[in-house]
Amino acid sequence: MDEQGSSVALVTGGSRGIGLAVAHALAEVGWRVAVIGRDHARAVDAAQSLPGEGHIGLACDVADAGQAAATVAAVESELGQIDVLVNNAGITRDNILLRLKDEDWDEVIATNLKGAFNMTKAVTRSMMKARSGSIINITSVVGIIGNAGQANYAASKAGLIGLTKSVAKELASRGVRCNAVAPGFISTDMTAELGADAVERLQSAIPLGRLGEPADIAGLVRFLAGDEARYITGQVIAVDGGMVM
Ligand code: NAI
Repeated sequence: MDEQGSSVALVTGGSRGIGLAVAHALAEVGWRVAVIGRDHARAVDAAQSLPGEGHIGLACDVADAGQAAATVAAVESELGQIDVLVNNAGITRDNILLRLKDEDWDEVIATNLKGAFNMTKAVTRSMMKARSGSIINITSVVGIIGNAGQANYAASKAGLIGLTKSVAKELASRGVRCNAVAPGFISTDMTAELGADAVERLQSAIPLGRLGEPADIAGLVRFLAGDEARYITGQVIAVDGGMVM
């Protein structure tokens, strides 16, 4: 793997789970990483835990367009040009459709979909000017195949796929790539609430026979971030142990 020199990546939701694994994978090969999380202290701790130098942690609610723009400006002024944006921040508010509250719908769309829009819009001008950049959206296999009890989450993740392809088409001529990674079921805090029965059922539906680990996702994100992926844009790549094929 090539060292990325002083390249800069911004990872939303980078203080734990998949986002933290992505931040680690990038830092390991020399990227400087801005870790964005809802909680300032946790984002700073995560940034300090990364290998290498020059990482920073910042608090930002990605659902808030003003905070997103201010955070991107702060990262640019501290670390310089942002080469890679990983839109990873996401939440679930699961319920069957008839019990799904308006606020559960709104919060999930605001964080998972509008958050990615806010951050993408904020980095786009400088990436276009630099005529390079890679934007990676963490969607979900649920955004491809749907899931009972997750109408809000699946809609947000399907929306992210439409956003990915549109941004890819719009920015390709400016040298900016945009791809989506669709994890299957990955062991993180988000899936920790599943009971042992549910995990067993899930495992039997996964051809590779296990839940994924955050590092399984981080490897692909690192590849899409770097120059080896220079001819790949507008793609949705599942990392799911073969669940969806
Ligand atoms: P997690 O719950 O462990 O971490 C989510 C991170 O996003 C946290 O750091 C949280 O602080 C941050 N975040 C949430 N709302 C935010 C906001 N408004 N502004 C800024 N940061 C915010 O989740 P996990 O499992 O690491 O998931 C990461 C991404 O991967 C999410 O987008 C999730 O939907 C997606 N994903 C996860 C799967 C899984 O099985 N764990 C499967 C498919 C997709």
